[in-house]
Amino acid sequence: MATRTTIAELAQHVGQAVRLSGWLYNRRSSGKIQFIILRDGTGLCQCVLERADATAAAFDAAEHLGQESSLMVEGQVRRDERGTGGYELTVTHLEVVGRAENYPITPKPHGVEFLMEHRHLWFRSQRQWTILRIRATLVDAIRRYFNDRGFVCIDTPIFAPSAGEGAQTLFSVDYFGETVYLAQTGQLYLEAACMSHRKVYCFGPTFRAEKSKTRRHLTEFWMVEPEIAYADLDDDIALAEDFVENIVQRVLRDHRADLAFLGRDVAPLEAVRKPFERMTYSQAAEVLRSKRVADMLDEQLAQTQARVAALKSDLEAKEAERSGPGVKKWRAEKLVQEMAELREELADLEELARNIPNHKHLAANFEWGGDLGGSDETIIARLHDKPVFVTHYPRTCKAFYMKRNEQDHRVVNNFDMLAPEGYGEVIGGSQREDDLGVLEERMREEKLDPAPYEWYLDLRRYGTVPHAGFGLGVERTLAWLCGLKHVRETIPFARMMGKVEP
Ligand code: 4AD
Ligand code: MG
Repeated sequence: MATRTTIAELAQHVGQAVRLSGWLYNRRSSGKIQFIILRDGTGLCQCVLERADATAAAFDAAEHLGQESSLMVEGQVRRDERGTGGYELTVTHLEVVGRAENYPITPKPHGVEFLMEHRHLWFRSQRQWTILRIRATLVDAIRRYFNDRGFVCIDTPIFAPSAGEGAQTLFSVDYFGETVYLAQTGQLYLEAACMSHRKVYCFGPTFRAEKSKTRRHLTEFWMVEPEIAYADLDDDIALAEDFVENIVQRVLRDHRADLAFLGRDVAPLEAVRKPFERMTYSQAAEVLRSKRVADMLDEQLAQTQARVAALKSDLEAKEAERSGPGVKKWRAEKLVQEMAELREELADLEELARNIPNHKHLAANFEWGGDLGGSDETIIARLHDKPVFVTHYPRTCKAFYMKRNEQDHRVVNNFDMLAPEGYGEVIGGSQREDDLGVLEERMREEKLDPAPYEWYLDLRRYGTVPHAGFGLGVERTLAWLCGLKHVRETIPFARMMGKVEP
């Protein structure tokens, strides 16, 4: 009897007869022999079928199987250094479980719109499989980090009676005739919890009605938020630095091969070691207006234009070869695929080239008082090869709960952590305003109705202490770690403006 096992465990079964169950990922055949790439959720394995008497029935069954048909195979495990996954199965028996015909996602390139519409199937592709496995490790690393250090996990509510961040991004819900909102953050509740448990965190889905389609914004995303009593801004930054180093190094340790498969250069991730860079908002504003930044953007534009020109001539050469005389069918197909990939890269670069002058204009005219825009963050992040903490933003561009700076009342004790390589903000954090009078004044300034916040003000009435925390977005962090341009591939089913299906 063949032993039931999975592809991930084949190493323990070399030379033995095993039974694998999975889906047909890909197939090549050359008359007498078929090579089936089986996918079983744990990995890929090449299964070889020869038309011998013993396997004639299996051979015929396999011959017309469409991509993603489900099947079971039995056979002998062989070590094969060069093969997919390092092992190969010499098939003696094959059983079809469920046929698939005309699977919509073929090995040919598809536009990302099409793939997002078929997300429920796109899941099965190697790239998506890899990304979501890395996500699972990242989530585990996050929980472990806090659980191992005495933080108590507090599950904060999702129905929230009032805004935690800006009122512009609230989703409202009819709650038995009353309007409540989907939580934008668990922070306010964590502030209550840290007065009981000292070190706490929450980790769950968060909702923001972001009315912009950008590569960094989802309407539903996952955020981990620690909160500590008796902590100030420096304590908060020290925690964020240690935490980020820890989770990045854990992902690197467990997923080196996966990151290589995604085409991620891991050198910049290796460099994510304490201490990170630090600058104030005012320094960042000066840097943005500097000649250094203008020069950097000019250079980036020149490089982008050069790359656009190179891509265009590459495309022309490939098109000439494809439409030329005597080109083989397989070669023409390969060229079509390569050209599709080049066109995608070209479109991105052309858009970047169009945007750089605008980014340059925004940076050069940056005025003290406004929040850093996406392109400003990208510029600051590009100037460093480690994450950067930008601290002490003007209070008027940040949330009402941030602690006023004692020396300069115009700014607050907060930070954003910007990821390098242009990824931008992945953490927002701050010390919280612990003075009742200052907090009430700040809420009046923001025209917030104090009624739904009375419980929050109680925390300042009964034994207030300095406290601080931050929030890290899982999807932006994963996009950075995997080197992805857009957050839509970092979450199983992305929700964005104009996208709630499937
Ligand atoms: O900077 P934010 O808005 O901070 C807070 O919500 C605080 N209450 C956190 C705290 O101090 N406890 O959001 C924190 C992080 C961002 O840096 C980003 O990584 C992520 O959450 N984030 C988003 N990710 C994807 N899509 C969006 N629309 C996001 N908005 C924020
Ligand atoms: Mg923020």
